[in-house]
Amino acid sequence: MSERIADLVSRMTAAEKLGQLQIIFRPNHDDAAALVRRGIGSMFWPPSATATNALQREAVENTRLGIPLLIGLDVIHGQRTIAPVPLAQAASFDPAMVEELAALAAREARSGGVNWTFSPMVDVSRDPRWGRVVEGFGEDVLLNAALGAAMVRGYQGDDLAAATSIAATAKHFVAYGQPEGGRDYNTVDVSDHRLRNVHLEPFRAVVAAGAASVMASFNTVAGVPVHADRRLLTGILKDEWGFDGVVVGDADGVANLVPHRVATDLDDAVALAYGAGIDIEMGGTPESIGWGAERLDSARLDDAVRRVLSLKERLGLFETPYVDPDAEITEPSSESRALVRAAAARSAVLLRNDGTLPLGAPRRMLLTGPYATSTDHLGAWTQYFGARSVSIADELAAQHPEIVVTVLPGVGFVEDDADDIGGVIAAVPGHDVVVVCVGEPSSFSGEAASRSDLRLPGRQAELIRAVAAAGVPVVVVMANGRPLVVADWIDQAPAVLEVWHGGTEAPAAIVDLLFGVAEPAGRLPMSFPRAVGQIPIHYDHENTGRPATTRGSLRLTTTDVAVEGPANVAEKFTSKYLDLDLGPQFPFGHGSGYATFAYGEPRLSASVIGVDGSVELTVEVTNTSTRTGDEVVQVFLEDLVASVAPPVRRLVAFARRTLAPGETSTFSFAIGPAQLGFRLTDGTLAVEPGNVVLHVGPTLAATRPVPLRVTPPPLPH
Ligand code: BGC
Repeated sequence: MSERIADLVSRMTAAEKLGQLQIIFRPNHDDAAALVRRGIGSMFWPPSATATNALQREAVENTRLGIPLLIGLDVIHGQRTIAPVPLAQAASFDPAMVEELAALAAREARSGGVNWTFSPMVDVSRDPRWGRVVEGFGEDVLLNAALGAAMVRGYQGDDLAAATSIAATAKHFVAYGQPEGGRDYNTVDVSDHRLRNVHLEPFRAVVAAGAASVMASFNTVAGVPVHADRRLLTGILKDEWGFDGVVVGDADGVANLVPHRVATDLDDAVALAYGAGIDIEMGGTPESIGWGAERLDSARLDDAVRRVLSLKERLGLFETPYVDPDAEITEPSSESRALVRAAAARSAVLLRNDGTLPLGAPRRMLLTGPYATSTDHLGAWTQYFGARSVSIADELAAQHPEIVVTVLPGVGFVEDDADDIGGVIAAVPGHDVVVVCVGEPSSFSGEAASRSDLRLPGRQAELIRAVAAAGVPVVVVMANGRPLVVADWIDQAPAVLEVWHGGTEAPAAIVDLLFGVAEPAGRLPMSFPRAVGQIPIHYDHENTGRPATTRGSLRLTTTDVAVEGPANVAEKFTSKYLDLDLGPQFPFGHGSGYATFAYGEPRLSASVIGVDGSVELTVEVTNTSTRTGDEVVQVFLEDLVASVAPPVRRLVAFARRTLAPGETSTFSFAIGPAQLGFRLTDGTLAVEPGNVVLHVGPTLAATRPVPLRVTPPPLPH
């Protein structure tokens, strides 16, 4: 603790300390100033540089100790320039891009006085019914860890005090991504094995990357609401991992301990939460200052205050509480637009392609579907600005005036009397290509936006089927914030581009992708299920004692991974659904591009290593096409025998690189304890001796194996 903080803490009254442990939601400016004068230590953004400075002035000049404010805001995928939603960013498999986008968001936000964001979300999400999957990086542990850490680096830079940095918050700690039934805020009951190996791992990574704060989640874990869980907040996060930043509660998460029925009243809730390890309560009311205060242990109170003041110090707020209003960034620049346009293209996933994409030089195009004219591309978390982008139709007209485009949406996002599929079909003749722009509007995903039916809403699937039967090449462009069930039309649509909610420049990126000005190379960060009944579904499932395989009449699709079970198990008694093919529609990691690539044999620098050892895995990849394009190489681990049933495959490394036509590039990956090991329930990393196989390739369905033997440590003499 710095001398300044020690001195402040020693001079603070109990009320002043408690004021520092609160963040209050956007009240109007007059209320805000009064609250600050009363000692509230953190506020939601007012929102402008001038308004922020006015609040900071109240804190610095009109409170006894003059402590500046943390100014928080959910800057999730951009402030003024909106980047693709986090789930889309995850599809890029590109940590450098994620870092750059976060740095852009930080620059824009800090220029307006925001110094604290509630991002990244690293909740491993295996249930697409849960609307918040849009806010995170999908179903894979490594992808969440790597991209979460990249986002933290982007927000925080090298120095939190820089005028371009903001403090990051890893959320929602923990296991929020596995709510029962996919219903937001619902119960989570997870084993310590999965907690350690799945849900906690990304948090460990972002804490190691220096995340300044962590947000507690709304859910229970094994019966205990996280806001009251001392084992998780203090035991694991603070004590075991040494996290010395700020633990912030989620909005009213402390007050919610009452309806959770673990606290009798707000007093009780506050005492429980701070006692468990919450340092800042979010969403409290002015009256709550002092709640439960008399029940708080004074050492815990001082610890929480020290954490909050230290963050303010690291942000340089004691020296520079104000920002320059003339330097506030209030709109996207041409550079920031170019960055998010490229990012939107890098986040797109080519789900299928029969060669219709990229489009050549069509003379007449029919643009249909609700996303043809919709300007709802920004996604679930945009704060005050730029609520709309342009539409695909307008962008197409601007970029390609030479094409005669007929725009006929045909259907809306919900079924409506105005739907006119017949009108669209009647218009098809005379067009060279039909582009059907479908999806979910952004309000269908995000917080408190769970769905039980994951098919395209309204009559969009019907529109696709009708157009696909009309005898003209068809391309489907799908914009959405979660994996969807597409089984009712996908086989009839041979060219499908998943573009998610791509942000400010999404329509421009979509047009770039359609014409091959940009190359799709993203990969799915979450499985697309065949049916809602399969959920939760994820590629890194365990094999079970009775895996369903190719034997018998069951259709094994190339999208499932399972290891053959014992030959004496009759097919009838294997793990499957009677009424559904095996595996998801599209698995995690699925996606292709316009360029084509060939893989050499993967090689290891050694075929036998000790449990502490490492090897280098290399594979040569050649661009066999005439286009410059990106390839994403994925490395999966298969542990053949372990003391705990291992996942059938687990992503342990990945890399994305651009290759010119004919170019060969050697990808190399370090494989050591971090890749080979798993967590025991006490948190230790265990690397067990035995045989593993590394599977290397562009997608789960097209990998090449390379075996590795891990030997036990030598016996002591
Ligand atoms: C969400 C958080 C968010 C907070 C503040 C809550 O409802 O769960 O993710 O950071 O609101 O807006």
